[in-house]
Amino acid sequence: MLSPTILLLLIPLILFTQTLVFYLRNPLRKIPAVHPLAPFTSLWISWIRWRSYENRTLKAAHERLGPVVCLGPNEVSVNCVQGGIRDVYAGGYEKGGNVKGGFNWYAFFSNYGGVYNMFSTGGNKAHSARKRMLSNVYSKSAVTASPALLAQTSSILYDRFLPRLASTFSKDSGVLNIYALLSAATMDIVTGYIFGLKSSSNLLDDPEQLEWFLDLYNSRRSFNFWPQEYPELTAFVEKWVRYDIVPKWVGEANSEIEKWTKDMCESAARVQQQSEVNVEDTPSVFRQLYAALSKEMKKASDEKADLIPQIASEVLDHLAAGFDTSGITLAFMVHELCCHPDAQSRLQKELQTLIPPLVTLSSPGLPDPKTLDALPFLHAVVWETLRLHPAIPGPQPRVTPPQGCCLGSESKAYYVPGGVRVSASAGLLHLNDEVYDHASEWRPERWLDLEKLDEEKRRDMESRWFWAFGSGGRMCVGSHLAVYQMKYIIAALYSNYATSIIDDTRIEQIDAYTAPPGSDKVMIRLQRLDI
Ligand code: HEM
Ligand SMILES: *[C@@H]1O[C@H](CO)[C@@H](O)[C@H](O)[C@H]1NC(C)=O
Repeated sequence: MLSPTILLLLIPLILFTQTLVFYLRNPLRKIPAVHPLAPFTSLWISWIRWRSYENRTLKAAHERLGPVVCLGPNEVSVNCVQGGIRDVYAGGYEKGGNVKGGFNWYAFFSNYGGVYNMFSTGGNKAHSARKRMLSNVYSKSAVTASPALLAQTSSILYDRFLPRLASTFSKDSGVLNIYALLSAATMDIVTGYIFGLKSSSNLLDDPEQLEWFLDLYNSRRSFNFWPQEYPELTAFVEKWVRYDIVPKWVGEANSEIEKWTKDMCESAARVQQQSEVNVEDTPSVFRQLYAALSKEMKKASDEKADLIPQIASEVLDHLAAGFDTSGITLAFMVHELCCHPDAQSRLQKELQTLIPPLVTLSSPGLPDPKTLDALPFLHAVVWETLRLHPAIPGPQPRVTPPQGCCLGSESKAYYVPGGVRVSASAGLLHLNDEVYDHASEWRPERWLDLEKLDEEKRRDMESRWFWAFGSGGRMCVGSHLAVYQMKYIIAALYSNYATSIIDDTRIEQIDAYTAPPGSDKVMIRLQRLDI
């Protein structure tokens, strides 16, 4: 019989030997490790994530150790194009779930108690079936040519956004938190396109509902770590230890947002059945998804299936992803334009060339989307903000394919086995000084006269290293809608006003996957332009 003392000594010895054997057999040990503990345990990188130190840690690690680094016994980070994002993202590595050992970090983004959607689906096959249903309605040609979206945007800008800006003068002498208003505008436009104007949100006209929504939405942000990184542990502790790692009210906040979305779906379903629908009430995305899913159900002879939960889970992600990311980008755009008055006046001059001008007198006429899209300086301002302040700057995890892969440059490539978590971050790729001169500075001019640059340099800047919307099969489906609405909103603001900063304390982006300003506020003063 072993005495308890010997047994107690044996347990750590066994654990130690196991870890050592795993380490010696693990090909990742050849990859430079971000910390001496990283190849032995994932607890180290979890600790960094929990403390919200991931961005600065990865930045320093790649600077010190090169484009491929080991973050844990089953995780690497890449920060290069060749042997990096080109292989992982354009190469179609899955979000996980299907590969052995591959954990799907995005499962967290399913709604209504686990109804998967385009964003949260791990495997490529199920994902592409859903993406095929939706990529057309979000394509650049569909967005640019949509009479419904143009009518929705016109109504939201002229009847809500500009009047709201004007009303700040009577009470607050032109001072406001522009971030909240920009978020309201993006939510109204995105839900307008999805559900039609009649069924969509109206956060711009309803300050109380706007506050209600932003509070619900933003308060949940700090509780992502446990359910996202350790979903099973979180569920276990909540069930058996009866301890709520995530406070109850976060779940309640999610339910409220889910109910709000479902109501909009049901309203769009009613509008869809009417014989005549006003152009601005067309539920473009809802209608498309409804038709595609009905067809699928018919094939599966399941005609009685209730489509609303499926549609609601899908579009909830679109409206959340859509308003949040575009709102963040616009907030930083306004902030940078306040800090760069020369750029601001250059933009205003360019906007004055629009026909009709984007001022209340032109209502409901809007300049044509193609004309707006072709304004070079507006484009440069949007692109430079997406580069320096990508709304999703943090790691986008994928899982290496079962057969394993090679990552890194030709001269220094590493074998990575299957089922390993691998990610790149837009925030780091965009800070490459070799591609973007003075990369840490906001310089919209870098995007002008690109045709004068040599072809390689131009492609590096515009496509290879520009990663605000990701790349490959899981690239952002809403990028064209995002650019469309951001250009109209910023054009409406700067066709009528000049802006200056009142308070930008804690403006820096938080260290997270989606990264708003730390203070959740951008306080500015408006000044009417003489037009
Ligand atoms: C400035 C605005 C936006 C930015 C910076 C942005 C960025 C991104 C990024 C980086 C991804 C890839 C994420 C990953 O794989 O981890 C993504 C995916 C996605 N985005 Fe956006 N996005 C924006 C606007 C929108 C809008 C307006 C919509 C509304 C439809 C949208 C819907 C989606 C969806 C559904 C996905 C998942 C696509 C898939 O898995 O195939 N996004 N976005
Ligand atoms: C990440 O860290 C770098 C270096 O400290 C910094 O310049 C950058 O702004 C950070 N990005 C985010 C999104 O916090």
